[in-house]
Amino acid sequence: MAKRVAVIGAGVSGLSSIKCCLDEDLEPICFERSSDIGGLWKFTETSKDGMTRVYKSLVTNVCKEMSCYSDFPFQEDYPNFMNQEKFWNYLQEFAEYFDLLKYIRFKTTVRSITKRPDFSETGQWDVVTETEGRQDRAVFDAVMVCTGHFLNPHLPLESFPGIHKFKGQILHSQEYKIPAGFQGKRVLVIGLGNTGADIAVELSRTAAQVLLSTRTGTWVINRSSDGGYPFNMMVLRRHHNFIAQVLPSCILKWIQERRLNKRFDHVNYGLNITKGKKPKMIVNDELPTCILCGTVTIKTSLKEFTETSAVFEDGTVEENIDAVIFTTGYTYSFPFFEEPLKTLCTKKIFLYKLVFPSNLEKTTLAMIGFIHLTGSILAGTELQARWATRVFKGLCKIPPSQKLMAEAMKKEQLIESKKRREVFVSSSPSLLKYLSYRTSCVRLAGSG
Ligand SMILES: Cc1cc2nc3c(=O)[nH]c(=O)nc-3n(C[C@H](O)[C@H](O)[C@H](O)COP(=O)(O)OP(=O)(O)OC[C@H]3O[C@@H](n4cnc5c(N)ncnc54)[C@H](O)[C@@H]3O)c2cc1C
Ligand SMILES: NC(=O)c1ccc[n+]([C@@H]2O[C@H](COP(=O)([O-])OP(=O)(O)OC[C@H]3O[C@@H](n4cnc5c(N)ncnc54)[C@H](OP(=O)(O)O)[C@@H]3O)[C@@H](O)[C@H]2O)c1
Repeated sequence: MAKRVAVIGAGVSGLSSIKCCLDEDLEPICFERSSDIGGLWKFTETSKDGMTRVYKSLVTNVCKEMSCYSDFPFQEDYPNFMNQEKFWNYLQEFAEYFDLLKYIRFKTTVRSITKRPDFSETGQWDVVTETEGRQDRAVFDAVMVCTGHFLNPHLPLESFPGIHKFKGQILHSQEYKIPAGFQGKRVLVIGLGNTGADIAVELSRTAAQVLLSTRTGTWVINRSSDGGYPFNMMVLRRHHNFIAQVLPSCILKWIQERRLNKRFDHVNYGLNITKGKKPKMIVNDELPTCILCGTVTIKTSLKEFTETSAVFEDGTVEENIDAVIFTTGYTYSFPFFEEPLKTLCTKKIFLYKLVFPSNLEKTTLAMIGFIHLTGSILAGTELQARWATRVFKGLCKIPPSQKLMAEAMKKEQLIESKKRREVFVSSSPSLLKYLSYRTSCVRLAGSG
């Protein structure tokens, strides 16, 4: 009898997973809490349902040549980089072509996923779902969690003294859909990821002024590269990978930075990576021009808010701020698991190859799509789902749980001790001062 697999979520990762289950003759049933496929790529006018979705003007940041599922290329007439609507159409075409829709139960939220009492022998799960107020329970041989990285908005208000006094509008980018409502206003965007840059550029066309605050800076790359080819096509190449592996990291860094600064010098634009911070990269074709034309002003990190203004770390003050948009990213969680699985799955170190939780006696639970890639996530989720379904079927094996847990705990300890060392080093100037003060006191006492 074919194994029954519960797939949670019908976004990019969920669709890959359903297809891979079918390829391996497994029986998938996908539960999707919204009424459509595509996850965050399904645009809606409002965010009242609390789901993270694309804003209207979003354009993909990985070109179509590097973005498709392996057996379903984009149609010829699709542009290299496409807007959210076209990308969603592609997902719809994929789902229809492989007849995936009939396996999806829409408007069905997964409330709990628990091990069956005989889990250590069967590896089976009890899955409780809710559809329009009605609860159902079913037993599954395996589960693929495809609920995405962007479940909850990360809104770090406690890091911003005075924010509760601020009288203007405050929102997170999850609520942002279109630029209407910001015309003629002075808007402060906090956080420079892809979303922060996109929203700042879009608002700069109609707002009175856009201020964009960043703690870290970022490298900014264009969608088009040498000869007008999409940059991912030019950069994500085997020979580039090979060169990156053989060159010493300092030389590689020098070459990359030289190339990235060739288009515009990031220091002059206030976008250089803050010393000691991990470098990051965004894709944006217009941000440098907006900075050059003064429609977007780059600001340092924020020190505090007053009722109407923002005070920055460099001592500058911006008065009469009408709205603050936090583009500070997202967090994810697994509310349907019990402890310790719930916490363990949020620590990627405890996911074997970022897919299988290390603490389970049976390998019947796979986390799909919890990855950040340089390229498109479609290829990554497809590979994960192919592997996971083969593990469910017994065609691939993974090491036993005890071994995986021991390795994960060892890695965790190493990371902890590295963090402790870093804290020690960063606090050492004051520590050294204290020690030298103590030494001079001892010397003085000795001489007295
Ligand atoms: C604004 C934005 C732009 C992006 N642009 C790109 C890009 O250009 N290129 C790229 O490669 N990547 C991009 N990404 C990365 C993105 O992660 C992937 O493109 C992809 O959409 C992730 O798909 P997913 O299926 O893993 O998650 P999601 O698309 O978030 O889908 C998760 C699904 O699970 C459902 N769900 C959640 N909880 C439950 C539950 N309890 N029960 C039932 N259903 C549930 C949700 O309703 C949703 O449909 C972008 C991300 C964001 C936020
Ligand atoms: N297709 C596209 O073009 C497109 C568009 C949008 C998003 N995306 C994707 O969507 C995902 C989410 O992107 P995102 O930009 O929303 O989130 P993100 O990549 O997590 O970036 C959030 C940014 O917020 C800042 N931040 C976080 N916590 C902060 C704090 N406490 N105080 C101040 N600043 C803080 C950080 O930037 P600083 O430290 O520099 O301030 C961080 O880089 C990413 O995978 C991204 O690639 C793609």
